[in-house]
Amino acid sequence: MCPERDNSEAQIFIKVVENLDRAVIAVDRSGRIVLFNPAAESYTGLSRRQSLDRQFDEIFASQTRMVDLLRQTLAAGRSITDEENISLQQTTGAAMPISVSVSPIYDQSDTPDGAVLIMRDLSRVRELEAALRQADRQSMLGTLAAGLAHEVKNPLGGIRGAAQLLNMELESQSPLREYTTVVIREVERVNGIIEELMDLTRPRPPEMGDADLSRILSDIVLLQKEAGRSRCLEFVLHLDPSIPPIRGDAALLARLFLNLVKNASESVEPGGRIDISTRIASDYHLLSPGRRPVPWVVIEISDNGPGISDRDMERIFTPFFTTKPGGSGLGLATCQKIADSHQGFIKVNSRPGSGCVFSVSLPFIRNDEETPCF
Ligand SMILES: Nc1ncnc2c1ncn2[C@@H]1O[C@H](COP(=O)(O)OP(=O)(O)OP(=O)(O)O)[C@@H](O)[C@H]1O
Ligand SMILES: [Mg+2]
Repeated sequence: MCPERDNSEAQIFIKVVENLDRAVIAVDRSGRIVLFNPAAESYTGLSRRQSLDRQFDEIFASQTRMVDLLRQTLAAGRSITDEENISLQQTTGAAMPISVSVSPIYDQSDTPDGAVLIMRDLSRVRELEAALRQADRQSMLGTLAAGLAHEVKNPLGGIRGAAQLLNMELESQSPLREYTTVVIREVERVNGIIEELMDLTRPRPPEMGDADLSRILSDIVLLQKEAGRSRCLEFVLHLDPSIPPIRGDAALLARLFLNLVKNASESVEPGGRIDISTRIASDYHLLSPGRRPVPWVVIEISDNGPGISDRDMERIFTPFFTTKPGGSGLGLATCQKIADSHQGFIKVNSRPGSGCVFSVSLPFIRNDEETPCF
């Protein structure tokens, strides 16, 4: 045996565990914590000092499933994984979906000398799954809506034609003209909604060029500031100036962000505040076969309005869902469609009473040859 090699291998092991993005916690045979890596600190919100030398089941008393997995591993000496159903209660009060695997650590004997528990953060995986479910639901609704729109448009044309003929037959002073005018106006309104719906279900394909997010967002804010002047809204921009133009359809992206900024402005009370920020999230990547992993640009639009109830949250992306008098309920559905067409997705965080955060994640790619921007 070469002690120097042993030593450098040990150093490598330490570095790997220290830098792993998964939480690693090791316990001895009695369940006392003997290793707590930095990721474990950030997952749990507990420091190494607070955790080392303490009993696992005491610190994680509320995490009964994890305590149970650890106990089973120590007793039976075999690895156990729970991929799906564990929610880690963090010290901030938030819950993080995680997968946990526990493996025994053997020394010389046949009985385990301890166990190592590894947690993986599934938040982003869950977000992507939710975005996928939403997209599925939307494409089904899209097919249904396109069929319906087609069926309704023809009879509507007939109604409008008949009302216009009737209008011509009536004397110019006839009080009945008021009714025909209402019929024509309302038919046109329904027609407008159908056009918008058809646009949503069969949007034009995006024309990918350079989309300068800072410019798009600054222009939108300029316009919205003007529109919201009488309500004294405050718009605060935190744009990362180092983000270059990305690959995207600038007009469609402007429509997406305008819808979100408008929703935020409409939700707040007079004097309310809307924050808009851009940043690069390189902790998770868009993976496509045969390509380099691509980080995301995240654009966040937050407001201090009333937020969205859990019940409404399920439905806000559904076409025609609106809580506003005069709203069409097509704004967010359109946003979703545009994000999809850029291989991106939208996430919403809201606690009723403390506003909303809409974050749009777009692949951080340059237009030329689809190369990542880094
Ligand atoms: N920032 C927000 N704060 C609170 N609720 C919101 C926010 N953004 C969206 N919502 C909710 O989601 C619903 C759907 O939004 P969406 O943009 O699709 O339609 P709308 O704003 O009601 O109508 P339109 O966009 O046609 O004017 C809204 O009616 C509102 O209830
Ligand atoms: Mg809207």
